[in-house]
Amino acid sequence: MSRLESMIRRITAQKIGLEWGVKRTKDIAGDFVEIGLGNGRTYDHLRETAPDKKIWVIDRVLQCHPSCIPPDGSFLQGEVDETIKQMKNNNISISLAHYDLGIGVDDKDEAEAAALSPLIKAIMVEGGLLISSQPLVGFTQLEGPAEIPAGRYYFYKA
Ligand SMILES: C[S@@+](CC[C@H](N)C(=O)[O-])C[C@H]1O[C@@H](n2cnc3c(N)ncnc32)[C@H](O)[C@@H]1O
Repeated sequence: MSRLESMIRRITAQKIGLEWGVKRTKDIAGDFVEIGLGNGRTYDHLRETAPDKKIWVIDRVLQCHPSCIPPDGSFLQGEVDETIKQMKNNNISISLAHYDLGIGVDDKDEAEAAALSPLIKAIMVEGGLLISSQPLVGFTQLEGPAEIPAGRYYFYKA
């Protein structure tokens, strides 16, 4: 598979996966969190799909497309472990989390996701969903949308 094909599969899985998660969390109290703003593509889709939800956005650097800059107070700039601890201290509860960190090196990306999982768990409401580009630990894994092949994207219930 070419890198182009791999990219197409990834962003298709993100679009379908986020829509799947939004539909299933619309009646669950709690905010959303985008972990890894990057260019802002998935954040933009999330806010279009769930316009009524408060979406917290985490990244160590603000480098998104200008149209995707989060509103004042919603962008938490810093290392993800520290920002999630701040969210916990501020009693923020999350019903839908999208995790999209990683550098494309499986061992490192998976170790980081495993290390961050307990912190993320601490801000999730019971029954909240996690849509993730990396495997997380300590959650109940779900099959997710039928169109997404197993292992391409990960789906969990808190
Ligand atoms: C793959 S990109 C996110 C892409 C984004 N979801 C999109 O659709 O455009 C990952 C982002 O996570 C950020 N990042 C990676 N590790 C981080 C960490 N430990 N703390 C905070 N931000 C981090 C990077 O700066 C980068 O912008």
